[in-house]
Amino acid sequence: MDGDLARIQVISPISIVVPTYKERENIPLVIERVRQLRERDGLDAELIFMDDMSRDGSIEAVEASGHDWVRIVERTEDRGLSPAVIDGFRNARNPVLVCMDCDLSHPPEKIPQMVYALSSGQQFVIGSRYVPGGSTDDDWGFFRWLNSRVATLLARPLTSVKDPMSGFFALRRKDFDRAQELNPVGYKIALELIVKCGFENVGEVPIHFTDRIHGESKLTLREQLKYIKHLRRLYLFRFANAMYLLQFLVVGMSGVVVNMAMLTLLLALGATPKLAIAGGIIVSVVSNFLLNRRFTFSYARDRNPLGQFAGFVGASAIGMIVNYALSVYLIENVLPETRSSIYIASLLGISAGMLFNFLGNRYVVFRK
Ligand code: GDD
Repeated sequence: MDGDLARIQVISPISIVVPTYKERENIPLVIERVRQLRERDGLDAELIFMDDMSRDGSIEAVEASGHDWVRIVERTEDRGLSPAVIDGFRNARNPVLVCMDCDLSHPPEKIPQMVYALSSGQQFVIGSRYVPGGSTDDDWGFFRWLNSRVATLLARPLTSVKDPMSGFFALRRKDFDRAQELNPVGYKIALELIVKCGFENVGEVPIHFTDRIHGESKLTLREQLKYIKHLRRLYLFRFANAMYLLQFLVVGMSGVVVNMAMLTLLLALGATPKLAIAGGIIVSVVSNFLLNRRFTFSYARDRNPLGQFAGFVGASAIGMIVNYALSVYLIENVLPETRSSIYIASLLGISAGMLFNFLGNRYVVFRK
């Protein structure tokens, strides 16, 4: 570790940010562990507790320590773990930022190694349970393990990091400062930063994750559901057009179901086939429009819906012409004269028409 420390001192001092909610009993333990690190390893670190009005004696516990390198910030607005961490980073005075839980499930003794990894070229370093050498306490039940693994798997297309769910990480202040559109919701602040800062070079230092002794976890089912919303936003950020196209296609498929349902209903009510077909088309176009406006292109929801509807119908009409023209061209000029050629041409035409339709909607009707 001596060699490590020599490198650490190049980029220290460090700000350790600890989000807290009702952690009075743990606060003195965290302060003591960091004090030992400062004294034994010479780590130049300030410690900032970001508390969301716990009103449980947390402030007094920090004041009782009497150290000038420890402080607590009482937050009164925008409560939550991730906003508290972001706020903490903005309050921090030092060029290296570390985030850590207050329940000592994250060993502070790993901080020097994490900071060393930063100084040797990593942009972001995670204290990780899932790299060789990392572990959790044995009494993690099957469901907690499964929960953590599924959450990690869902984030896989966004990052290849093994433990992006970890709340123990380090980064440089200058990298944090260039984070775009931070939208800190829920618990997964490390994932938010990796995606929004576009970190490519992420290191993982193995840690043993210890279960808390004092107090209880605040990770409720509500917080876990927020993760799904968070993921959708991150996917939209990272894979914008692919995500818009996917949602557009899902809405398009729902339109086929709506169309068929309306057709069946009108036929059952005694409408002529022509009227039933027209009714199915009209209702599905309206439902597609409403769903695309509500979900796919929700960023453009505050604009005039009538103008958008006209644009949507116009783009669909042009898409239909593209579909028809390409299908006929393929049949007449490219494909052999067989029955299956008609289906192939038609499917290619539909794909081209839909793509045209999508682009028209994305960049004209629902432009940003
Ligand atoms: N300021 C603030 N506001 N802090 C909060 C809030 C809040 O609303 N909710 C939780 N915290 C603090 C806790 O006091 C603790 O210090 C830290 O955030 C983590 O919260 P826990 O509720 O203890 O989390 P956990 O142990 O269930 O979750 C752990 O595992 C996750 C991965 O499985 C944590 O390590 C997470 O960081 C990690 O993402």
